[in-house]
Amino acid sequence: MNPDIDRVLITEQALRAKVEELGAQVARDYDGRAPIFIGVLNGAMVFISDLARACPIPLSIDFMAVSSYGAGSRSSGEVRIVKDLDRSIEGRHVLIVEDIIDTGLTLSYLLDALHTRQPASVEVCTLLDKRERRTIDIEIKYSGFEIPDEFVVGYGLDYRDLYRNLPYIGVLKPHLYTSE
Ligand code: IMP
Ligand code: MG
Repeated sequence: MNPDIDRVLITEQALRAKVEELGAQVARDYDGRAPIFIGVLNGAMVFISDLARACPIPLSIDFMAVSSYGAGSRSSGEVRIVKDLDRSIEGRHVLIVEDIIDTGLTLSYLLDALHTRQPASVEVCTLLDKRERRTIDIEIKYSGFEIPDEFVVGYGLDYRDLYRNLPYIGVLKPHLYTSE
């Protein structure tokens, strides 16, 4: 195991099983509606590519990048679009795919921004949910795992842009970031 990881919170097998389950559920719900999956970069890149492959219906994929965290481990409250979508979502069924929802600030901003573009519908699919940290009430239709308030990395999630390639979700050793 990576020496910076305190413990594994969600194993590779558990992730795979959950992603299969979510993909099947999304496929049932969106059958015949050709949804657009919108991945929030960079964190959702691993999840969206596995989720899309677990979802055997016609769908498109686009990406947005927002910045809310700077390089550290806590939300600054400031969110801005760093990369916008390549195509219009007007009249389309949108599924926002997120790695993790923490305070909810990032997602709430994204939802507002996307709703102004007249999509047919917008729902959210997040792999992880730190529900106890939520400061804004948002409806999340698909959620993989509810996790405690600990800083996690792996499967797309980073700390200072590292650890995204770990195949599991692990808790980072606190001494690596609590000095901030
Ligand atoms: P929110 O705006 O507070 O909901 O923050 C959401 C974003 O913060 C996520 O998309 C992640 O990029 C980042 N984030 C929140 N918690 C963690 C964590 O435990 N590990 C890594 N990134 C996190
Ligand atoms: Mg993110």
